[in-house]
Amino acid sequence: MVRVELGPRSYDIFVGENWWHRMPDFLTSISRKSPAIMITDKNVFSLYGMRFLELIRQAGFQAEPAIIPGGEDCKNLATCTLIYEQMVTDGLDRGSTVFALGGGIVGDVAGFVAATYMRGIPYIQIPTTLLAQVDSSVGGKTGVNLPLGKNLVGAFHQPSLVFVEVDFLDTLPQREYLTGLAEVIKYGIIWDRQFFIYLEENLARIKAQDKDCLQYIISRCCEIKAQVVAQDETEKGVRAMLNLGHTFGHALEALTLYERYTHGEAVAIGTICAARLSQSLGLLSASEVSRIEQLIEAVGLPTRFENLDPQAIIAQMYRDKKQVGGRLQLVLPATVGQCRIVDQVPESQIASLLGQCSENS
Ligand SMILES: NC(=O)c1ccc[n+]([C@@H]2O[C@H](COP(=O)([O-])OP(=O)(O)OC[C@H]3O[C@@H](n4cnc5c(N)ncnc54)[C@H](O)[C@@H]3O)[C@@H](O)[C@H]2O)c1
Ligand SMILES: [Zn+2]
Repeated sequence: MVRVELGPRSYDIFVGENWWHRMPDFLTSISRKSPAIMITDKNVFSLYGMRFLELIRQAGFQAEPAIIPGGEDCKNLATCTLIYEQMVTDGLDRGSTVFALGGGIVGDVAGFVAATYMRGIPYIQIPTTLLAQVDSSVGGKTGVNLPLGKNLVGAFHQPSLVFVEVDFLDTLPQREYLTGLAEVIKYGIIWDRQFFIYLEENLARIKAQDKDCLQYIISRCCEIKAQVVAQDETEKGVRAMLNLGHTFGHALEALTLYERYTHGEAVAIGTICAARLSQSLGLLSASEVSRIEQLIEAVGLPTRFENLDPQAIIAQMYRDKKQVGGRLQLVLPATVGQCRIVDQVPESQIASLLGQCSENS
């Protein structure tokens, strides 16, 4: 169990293996007086939806499913409207609870719906992808995309509980597993050198998806995220560290129309860009850069991008919503286990670094 300390908005994250049937035991404090809704996507519903629904119904919740198609295309306000309408029809009121069963898409949509329905009702995260288990289900960032960009509409709304069932990962496609690993490696680089070393030393177990190893990894990532969020809930400072590799990564995702790379693949390449830029600014040693590159490569994530113009990448980076006052803010590793935020890197230096990070260089 990991606790996220946020005063009146504090909550627990439970991590375990083969235990989700016991989840209702942990729901005793959640009101059953009003109807509930279980939001999920088509894939997850077909794998776990009915069993999960029966479980919460047996526990006394009068719950109906809302099944969204899944994928980034459905993370939008139109999907939310359909869910709000169902919530009204099903009689959900201010005493109701939203269950979010799925990956980061379901979690972000369900969290946003919970944040806004009747000015905010409680929700529970049951993340089913590695990315959601180590990152998106914790910390209360919720939101949807606009046609003009990702995650442009949202709210901070903390869940009441997070339940992590490691066994859900059994059915996760390999590429989605790897995308989660990119975020796992990120925690080692920004926060915890020992954890990075653990990842280096347990590569074979990670690749084999060893359950004990995964439980440890997920718990440690949740602990780190909980610490970061407790210090800076609304990203005024230290929480920005979690964006390591993301400014580069988001640009790669957008320029390739979200088709070429998964989020984690783009973040992996972006992390290497950040490490190399840090080296070129004299902030990080060459041996640390190669350690970061080696781990990313060894787990099976890409390390270079292909056929993209550095100037186009830089232009796209300026469009990222993380930029404040038109300045590029970059998270750069100072060593494995510690990063800093730098906002005065000359564009020419970023362009020459991007030249080195391309497959054709
Ligand atoms: N709120 C945050 O703090 C935060 C942080 C990081 C990412 N995100 C968001 O998360 C989203 C990406 O999340 P994701 O990577 O989990 O993608 P996702 O939710 O699209 O899930 C990936 C795919 O795996 C399927 N799936 C989910 N669980 C499965 C399981 N157990 N077995 C088999 N298939 C399964 C899904 O149906 C989907 O097709 C992005 O929109 C991103 O912006 C949010
Ligand atoms: Zn991410």
